[in-house]
Amino acid sequence: MRKKWLVGNWKMHGNLASNRTLIEQLRAELPALTEGVEMVVCPAFPYIPQLAELLKSSGIHLGAQNASDHLNGMYTGEVSPLMLHELGCDSVIIGHSERRYYQHENDGLMGRKSLAAIDAGLVPIICVGETAEERDAGRTHEVLARQLDAAFGYIRTAHDKIILAYEPRWAIGTGIAATPEIVQEELAFLRARVAQRDQAFADNLPILYGGSVKASNASSLFNMPDIDGGLIGSAALDANEFVAIYKALVASHKEA
Ligand code: 13P
Repeated sequence: MRKKWLVGNWKMHGNLASNRTLIEQLRAELPALTEGVEMVVCPAFPYIPQLAELLKSSGIHLGAQNASDHLNGMYTGEVSPLMLHELGCDSVIIGHSERRYYQHENDGLMGRKSLAAIDAGLVPIICVGETAEERDAGRTHEVLARQLDAAFGYIRTAHDKIILAYEPRWAIGTGIAATPEIVQEELAFLRARVAQRDQAFADNLPILYGGSVKASNASSLFNMPDIDGGLIGSAALDANEFVAIYKALVASHKEA
């Protein structure tokens, strides 16, 4: 059975005091994580050392929200995946739609960043997803295929480890999640496309859904067969919500 993953993307939120409170609440509510159901928190860069300390012996993984496509060099303002690895991260979100939208990141850069992350020893959490306009125009599969193929131009399925996340832009931060049926359809499409390259890799690939996941809709989403967990934005900033979402994921894992 594939492992489940719950990833909290804190985006540009938090401060030293609120980070500490949030992690202390999570650790109090979840003194031990369930085997096979992993949790990752991804704070903003400056807080990575603080989180590495707060998460010690918790079983909760530390991830980053972005990384350079280079391992080092003259890239002012960039952060190398090697630095993240040295500070205790084991994964990094790549190609988030907010970076595609605000920083104009394209598919090629996402592919190169994924490869640099892998070479630095991190698991890239590669985000794909369509906009509302693309969905309305019936172009969802075309867009997902293009984004996926760009990433897989760099990934060596024989030994690389990645996590894929379907995050339709229209569902992010809107409070309106995609329906479980839509998510299942798109995740099955993504898995089938990966299977065209490598069936075993596709069978073992964790694919997450992100976009307005909350405690109230988590179970119905997680009960879909191709969903291996969630990439959570605003609900990851609320310990009660995040713990409830984690418990919903544990329940879906046990039922599977
Ligand atoms: P929300 O959960 O706030 O919609 O954000 C989702 C997301 O972008 C996670 O990366």
